[in-house]
Amino acid sequence: MAAAAHAYAPYSKFYVGAALLFDDGSVVTGCNVENMSYGLTSCAERNALFRGISEHGATRRIRAIAVANRNSAASPPCGACRQVMSEFVTADAVVTFPGDHGPETRQFAELFPCSFHLENRG
Ligand code: THU
Repeated sequence: MAAAAHAYAPYSKFYVGAALLFDDGSVVTGCNVENMSYGLTSCAERNALFRGISEHGATRRIRAIAVANRNSAASPPCGACRQVMSEFVTADAVVTFPGDHGPETRQFAELFPCSFHLENRG
């Protein structure tokens, strides 16, 4: 929720924050950053992930993801963020997000089954 206070969301006025718990114990946060060319908007979850990889490297894995918003609305991570996160989560990673009836916690694998992945790379 503290990360959501930094959100730049003048167009949707939907203020989102995300916190990622990495397997080394570090926590990295992010907020959504919108753009007047709407499609260039970047979600809180992806901003947190890109920040985490940039600061800690790509070998660490995400064990838990928390999402919050300042609009008292349900907001599970969007499909694009799930695809991006799928390359960096542990097999047992959990996601906590504002659901229709309060906070919900689900396994990442349940939220994003049958993910796209490339086989036989290099
Ligand atoms: N948004 C996020 O930051 N995370 C989500 O999981 C869903 C949507 C942002 C994008 C946009 O700035 C605003 O919420 C409305 O879609």
